Amino acid sequence: MSMETTLIILKPDAVQRGLMGQILSRFESKGLQIAGTKMMTISQDLANQHYSDHKSKPFFAGLVKFMTSSPVLVLAVRGVSAIAVCRKMMGATFGSKAEPGTIRGDYGISNSFNLIHGSDSPGAAEKELGLFFDAGDIQEYALGNQDWIYDASEDL
Ligand code: RTP
Ligand code: MG
Repeated sequence: MSMETTLIILKPDAVQRGLMGQILSRFESKGLQIAGTKMMTISQDLANQHYSDHKSKPFFAGLVKFMTSSPVLVLAVRGVSAIAVCRKMMGATFGSKAEPGTIRGDYGISNSFNLIHGSDSPGAAEKELGLFFDAGDIQEYALGNQDWIYDASEDL
């Protein structure tokens, strides 16, 4: 178990549908720390870099068009095992398949407009945090209630 920071993007459909607050609230309620936020419109170049692993996929052009179509809310989210915890909270990629109780399962039904991105590994988190945040944009601060979120005897 280790403290991790992951990159989350509330995608254009989440912003346009007025779901930013509800989704952000789920991470806060879970006990995760919001360490950085940035509202922005993703450029073509940034979308290409962010999703470079998918360059050869048939959905790539549509994915870049979607991600650059309207503003997004980018978050740096921190907590123990935050990368896997956030991926679990997001649910399966396709809204039509995602389990109820997950973000995609509760708020979406589309397969491509699926509301949220989350880094899928420590390497991806490092790369993506570097792409979206400048040095100093991500805050280091103690959560006032940390001793009640985590068992104080846990070695974090
Ligand atoms: P993300 O990277 O956005 O967190 O999503 P993910 O890991 O769950 O899914 P991934 O396979 O990495 O796909 C990236 C995004 O591309 C769109 N997609 N469309 N039409 C399709 O078959 C298809 N497959 C993927 C989704 O927006 C997905 O989140
Ligand atoms: Mg992915």
